[in-house]
Parts: sequence; C-alpha cells; structure tokens
Amino acid sequence: MIVKSMELVDFRSFKGQHYFNFDRPPGLYFLRGRNEAEPNLGANGAGKSTIFDALCWGLYGKSLRNLKATNIHGWDSETSGTHVNLAMRDVNGDIDLIHRSWSPNSLLLNGEFVVQDRLTRHLGIDDNSFKHSIIHPQFGDMFFDLAATPKLQLFSSVLNLDYWMSLSDLAKTKAKSNETATVNFEKKIAKYEGRLDTVSDNIKEFIEAKKVFASVQKDAVKDVQKLVLKLNHKLKDADIECTDIEKKLNKLEKRVNFFNEEELKWKKKRAKLDEKLSDTIRYKNDLTQEITRLVVSIGNIERVGGVCSLCKQKVSKIHIKEQINDFELKEKKSRKLLKPLDQELENLEDQMEVIRDSLKNLKSAQGDTDIKIRKFEIKHAQLGRDIEFCQQGLTDQKRSLKKIKTKENPHDVQIKKAKAERKKIKLRIDKLQGKIDKAQKKVSGYEHWIKGFKDVRLFLLEECLTQLEVEVNNNLMQLGLDDWSIRFDVEKETKSGTISKGFQVQIKSPKNKEVVPWEVWSGGEGQRLRLAGTMGLSNLILNRSGVVSNIEVWDEPTQYLNRVDDLLDLLYQRAQDLQKQIWLVDHRSIDFGGFEDVVTIVKDKNGSRIEQ
Ligand SMILES: Nc1ncnc2c1ncn2[C@@H]1O[C@H](COP(=O)(O)OP(=O)(O)OP(=O)(O)O)[C@@H](O)[C@H]1O
Ligand SMILES: [Mg+2]
Repeated sequence: MIVKSMELVDFRSFKGQHYFNFDRPPGLYFLRGRNEAEPNLGANGAGKSTIFDALCWGLYGKSLRNLKATNIHGWDSETSGTHVNLAMRDVNGDIDLIHRSWSPNSLLLNGEFVVQDRLTRHLGIDDNSFKHSIIHPQFGDMFFDLAATPKLQLFSSVLNLDYWMSLSDLAKTKAKSNETATVNFEKKIAKYEGRLDTVSDNIKEFIEAKKVFASVQKDAVKDVQKLVLKLNHKLKDADIECTDIEKKLNKLEKRVNFFNEEELKWKKKRAKLDEKLSDTIRYKNDLTQEITRLVVSIGNIERVGGVCSLCKQKVSKIHIKEQINDFELKEKKSRKLLKPLDQELENLEDQMEVIRDSLKNLKSAQGDTDIKIRKFEIKHAQLGRDIEFCQQGLTDQKRSLKKIKTKENPHDVQIKKAKAERKKIKLRIDKLQGKIDKAQKKVSGYEHWIKGFKDVRLFLLEECLTQLEVEVNNNLMQLGLDDWSIRFDVEKETKSGTISKGFQVQIKSPKNKEVVPWEVWSGGEGQRLRLAGTMGLSNLILNRSGVVSNIEVWDEPTQYLNRVDDLLDLLYQRAQDLQKQIWLVDHRSIDFGGFEDVVTIVKDKNGSRIEQ
C-alpha cells in the first residue's frame, strides 16, 4: 500500500480543498499543530489526527473513531458533501486512483464504481489490520490494552489464523455430512439387499417352474408324437385296406361287366327264341286257321252241292270231288305241318325256361355282386373318410407339435427379467458401496484435517508468537527497558483436552524473579511496553499479509512518557530499517534533529490547513 497523495474536501475541520503529499523519501516525519483559532489550546484541535482520519475514511469508508459520515462532513463547509481522493501505487508500480464521496455517496477505483470488499481485496489488508499495522490512532486501544480474549481474537484475525479454524470446522462439517451420507447409503444398501434376497428366491422359483414347464412340454410332444404315430399307422392300414377294396371292386366290376355281357347274350338269345316262338305260334295259328278254313270250305262245298263254292256257278261233281280232295289234301298237309308244332313249341318253351332261369340266376348273381359292390363302396367311402380324418388329424397334430415345440418357456422371460433386476441391484449395491468407501475415505481424511488444521493454526500461532516475541523484545531495549523481556502465552490444549483461551502478556524485568502481567507497570513503563508490542504486531501483520506500506503513523504515542528521546531514536531507526515514512503526530513541541521533515497543521478561522 503505497500512498502518494491525498486530496480532502470539507472533511471535518478542513474546509474546502486540501492536499497532503505522501510522496516523500523514507524517514521520520513530525506532524505538529498550531491552533490559531483557539490559541489557548496550543497544538490541540488543529486537525493533525484528521489527516489520517481522512486517509482511513478514503480507504475503508470508516473514520479511525468509527464516526458517522454526517460527523466527518465539515461543520462550516460551503458544500453539502465530503470527499477524499487518493493516489496510490500498486505492487506493479501502476497508479490507482481512489475516489470516495459522501452526499452523494460513491466509491470509484480508477474511475469505476466498486464495492468496499473489492477495494479491500485490492488493498490486501482490512481496516482492522490497517489500524494495527499502518496507522496507530490516537484513540482506541493498542494491542496490549485489549483484554486477553479480544487480544487473541485480534491476533488470530489480523494474522488470519481463524481461517485455519474455519477450515477445521469445515472439515468437521464435511466429515459429519459424509458420515451421514454413509449411513444413508448403508440404509439404501440394506433395502437393496432385502430386494436382492426376494429376487434371488424368485429366480429359484422361476427355474423350478421352467423345469416343470419343459417337462410338461416334453410330455405333450411325446403324446402328440404318439398320436401322430397312431394316425400314421391307421392311415397306412386304411390305405392298404382301401387298395384291397379297390382291387376287389375292380374284380367285381369285371364280374358285373361279365354279367352284363352274359345278360346281353341271354337276352339276345331270349329275343331270338321269342321271335322263333312267336313265329311258330303264328305259323301254328295260320295252320289252324287254314285247317279250319279248309274244313269249312269242304263243309260248304258239300252243303251247296254242284255249285262252285267260289264262283257260285254250277260245277260238275268231279270238279267238286276234286276240289274237296284238294281241300282235304291241303288240310291233311296242314295238319301234318301242325302236328310237330306243339312239340316244337314245347321245346321252345323249355328253351325259354332255361333262358329265363339263366337270366334269373344272372340277375341274382348280379344283385349279389351289386350288394357286394355297394358294401365295398360304403367301406371304401368310410375308409376315405377315415383317411381324410387321419390326414387332417396328422396336419393338426403336426401343427400342434410345432406349436408345442416352438412355444417359448414363459419362465425364461421371468428368469431373464429377474436376473437383469438382480444384476441391476448388485450394480447399485456396488455403486453405493463405492460411494460408502469414498465417503469413508473422505471421513477419515476430513477427521484427520479437523485436528490437522487446528495443528496448522497452532503451529502458525506459535511461529507468529515467537516472531512477535523477538520483534517486541528488540524494541524494548531501544525504548530504555534493558534486560526486560516479554513472554506471550496463548490458548493451548490442556492435558484434560480442554482449551485454555486468551492471549497473556507476561513481563520479565530485572526487578522480578518471576514473570508478571504487563498491567502491573506504571504509565510510562506500560506505554513503552505497549509501544514495543504494537510495533511488533505491526511488523508481524505486514509481514504475514505481504502488504508493503510506505507509511506508518503514530498519533500521540508519547503520552505518559517523560522522556521521548528513546522513542524518537527508535522511530528514527525503525524508519531507516523499514525504509518507510514514519509520521509522528504529537501536540508537543519536539526538537529532534532526526526528523526528515516537519509538517504543521494550522487551524484558523477558515479551518484547518496543511503547512508543508
Ligand atoms: N465535523 C466537523 N467539522 C468541523 N470541525 C470538526 C468536526 N469534527 C471535529 N472537528 C474539529 O476538528 C478539529 C481537529 O480535530 P483533530 O482531532 O484533528 O485535532 P488534533 O489536532 O488531532 O488535536 P489533538 O492534539 O487534541 O489531538 C477539532 O477542533 C475538532 O473539534
Ligand atoms: Mg489528535
């Protein structure tokens, strides 16, 4: 934090615009005052402390005494607001311009609006540390003035030792949350394990059911195969029987044909015989009629005597005789022809009888054959139906066999599903176990760091204390306290595990055998001890925070001191050693040859002003 210059406007007793130049070489500077407005007050009330109040307000928005903004605005100022402009140089050597105003309120860093946190981060040091390392204000307790606990709090906070405590707390929280997570994961695992048992039992049941299904399926296949075999046999038998019947039918057909041919033959014979018989009967009738006619004619000739029976003319007896003889000869001839006809007719009748019998026998044989054919045809039709039935049955059974064989075991799906679920659950359990392992590792890691961070803090604390002791004891001798030494004690873990809190300052002087608290000493002694402690802490803070400051301010450090030469020498030496501007602000008139420069703040009726 390198301050180059400051402009303050209407800030407390500084009315209007004023500049304070910090762009000076290292050395001890004296800021004194002259109150011309109230000469009785001498240097008091001139506006010395106000310079550094303005610096603090410009940087942090707070005055050194934490005054409200309304109280820093100049009472007699002609404007309604207050502002401070600062020119700083950052670590890179670049110039930063800070502008802070009240009424209207604004904070700008290099012309851009910023929030205080951003500026504080940019400065690298907060207001509390600032007030214990760069400006040692007139009012407010120095480090030693604080009670044991606030002293430790300040020490921890300015050195950021609480950071380690917060890390330890964070580790504790994390350990706990990981422990809780572990318990939750375990609960989930227990739930999944229960589910895993159920699923495993299900798988066993499904496997059993699968076996039963397979065996039922096998039996069904066997049954169908048996049926197929049976049907095949039946079909074969029916086929054989069918062929046999067809052969028989074939034979019977031939027989029928034979019978038909025979019948035709016999019928032809009968027709021929019928014709012959008719012819013979007709011939017999003709002969009989001829005989009758001849007999009648003979009778007529005899009855009419001498007259021709034909022409009714008178004829001679001879002629009549000849005619009768002729007729009688014809009759005789006809009778002779008639006589064998009965025998012939009888023969023909006998023949006809034979034909009739043959036809009758043939008919009867035909009827028998027809019956047989019918019977075989019925049987054949029956067998046809049987064959069809068997074939349909075979088709059905083959289809059913295929269906049975191709029917998937429903338990396969159940097993597959259950196994997939088991795998999923196992994966989840593994995953959760992995999470538990991870969480447990974290728990042990965090548990380690609960103490680890505390140890780091204690280590740093002790290191800082050692450094502080060395610094402070160096200063003591220069402040005229030869052979005096200061010892610091801070919280420590007691044997019973509790922590004794507080920051104790113990003094060992040539006057005491044992250490005594610093509060026992007189005002002057105490002030020397106080200054030595404050300087040591200042060095420690800047050293630890890495902040480089070109100024250090001591506002009224000489109170209680009778002699100030030791302090002046110390501050002079300190300015050389630290290569800083050390500003001694004092109401006394101090004559010291080592001052690099003396700046006077004068207050008159126009307010305060800087006389450089
Ligand atoms: N808001 C304000 N407006 C104007 N003047 C103020 C305001 N607040 C305080 N003052 C006055 O400003 C003057 C300067 O105060 P400051 O504390 O800077 O004096 P000092 O020089 O440090 O005096 P001392 O030696 O007593 O410490 C005082 O007289 C004080 O009363
Ligand atoms: Mg003052």
